[in-house]
Amino acid sequence: MSKRWEQWSDSEINQFQEDFLTWYQQEKRNLPWRYNQDPYRIWISEIMLQQTRVDTVIDYFYRFMDQFPTIQDLANAPEDKLLKVWEGLGYYSRARNLQAAAKQVMEEFNGKFPTTVEDIRTLKGVGPYTAGAISSIAFEIPEPAIDGNVMRVVSRLFCIEADIAKASSRNTFDEAMRKIISHDHPGDFNQAMMDLGSSICTPTSPQCEICPIQQYCQAYSENRQTDFPVKSKKQKPKDVYYVAGIIENNQQEIFLQQRPKTGLLASMWLFPLEEISAARFKELQEQYDASHWDLFSSSLVAEDSPDFFSGQEVVWQKKIVGQVKHVFSHLRWHILVFYGRNTSQLTLEGQWVNPKEFPNYVFPKPQQKMLEVFENNVSDDKD
Ligand code: ADE
Repeated sequence: MSKRWEQWSDSEINQFQEDFLTWYQQEKRNLPWRYNQDPYRIWISEIMLQQTRVDTVIDYFYRFMDQFPTIQDLANAPEDKLLKVWEGLGYYSRARNLQAAAKQVMEEFNGKFPTTVEDIRTLKGVGPYTAGAISSIAFEIPEPAIDGNVMRVVSRLFCIEADIAKASSRNTFDEAMRKIISHDHPGDFNQAMMDLGSSICTPTSPQCEICPIQQYCQAYSENRQTDFPVKSKKQKPKDVYYVAGIIENNQQEIFLQQRPKTGLLASMWLFPLEEISAARFKELQEQYDASHWDLFSSSLVAEDSPDFFSGQEVVWQKKIVGQVKHVFSHLRWHILVFYGRNTSQLTLEGQWVNPKEFPNYVFPKPQQKMLEVFENNVSDDKD
C-alpha cells in the first residue's frame, strides 16, 4: 500500500499546518475545556468525550467540575456521588476508572497530574487516543490523538485503504499523523482534526467546498471522498429480552434491585428484570398489549396473573405498562414493563424504596426510561 504522506515535502507540510491552524483559530468551537490548559479539565473532558457527543458532554462537564473541582476531590468522592453526576452519560466504567486514576495520581504522582505520554498512559481508563489528546492539548507534546473522526479525515487526505475497524490499521494512521502533526501547536492541530471531522469532513456528505485543507486532499482530487474510510461491518449488538416488574407494596414503596459490583451497569439500581426468550417476549407483547386491552381486564386480578418472577407473591396488572429499548455497545435490551402489587414478602434480593427517594439512587438509562413509562402510564391509572 503506498504511503502518500511520505511524498509530502517539508515546505508542503509547513504550508498545510499553517492553513489548517489558521482555520482552527478562526473557526474553533467555544468549549469549556478549551478555556485553559489545565490537564485535569482536559482529562475529564476527553474521558467524557470517548463515547459521547460534544453537545451532551458540555452540561455534564460543568456539573462534574462543580462537584469535583480538583483531582483530590475526585479521589475522595463517595462512589454514589460520582455515579450520580455521571447518571445518564452511560459507560459507567469510565467514571469508576476516573476515580481509580485520580487515586493513582494522588499516590504515585504526588497529587500532580503526570506530564509525559508514558506516565499519562499508565492511568486507568487512558488509552492511546486519550493519552495523545491530553499530552498534546495540556502539555504541547506532538503526540497524535487518533479516533474515528481523525481516521476519516486522514484516510481521505491520503487515500488510505486500511480498514479502520481493524486494530492493526492504527499504525498506518499513527505514522501518517506523526508526519503531519504540528510540533509548535500539537494540541490545536489535534483539535483542528477533531473539529474538521465533526463539522466538515463528515461521514456521508462532506462539505468539501468549504474545507480548509481541500487543496491537500487526495480523495477530493480524485473525487473519491466517500470511498474513505474503508470500514468493515461491525458485529450487530445481541438482542436480549426481559420483563421488568414495577412492584408496589401497601406503603406505596417500589422494589429496586442493585446490580452486582462488577459487569454491566455495576452497582446501579433497577426494577427487577427477568430474562425471557424472544418468542415469549412476542407472546407477552401480543397478549398484554395495552392498546387492544379493555379497562376491565387491565385491573389487578389474582387468578390468571402472568407468571413472571415465579415464586413471588405478586398480583400483576394484566397489561403492559410500556416497552423500553436500550442499546449498549454490544447488547440491545428489549424490556416489557409490567406493574404489580405485592401481597407478602418477596424473596428477591433488593430494597423497598419510596419513590420520593429515587433521586438518591443511581439509575442507568434503561431504568430512567422504565420510570418514564411508569410515570406516564400507571401512576394515575392504578386501581
Ligand atoms: N472529541 C474528543 N476530544 C475532543 C476535543 N478536545 N474537542 C472537541 N471534540 C473532541
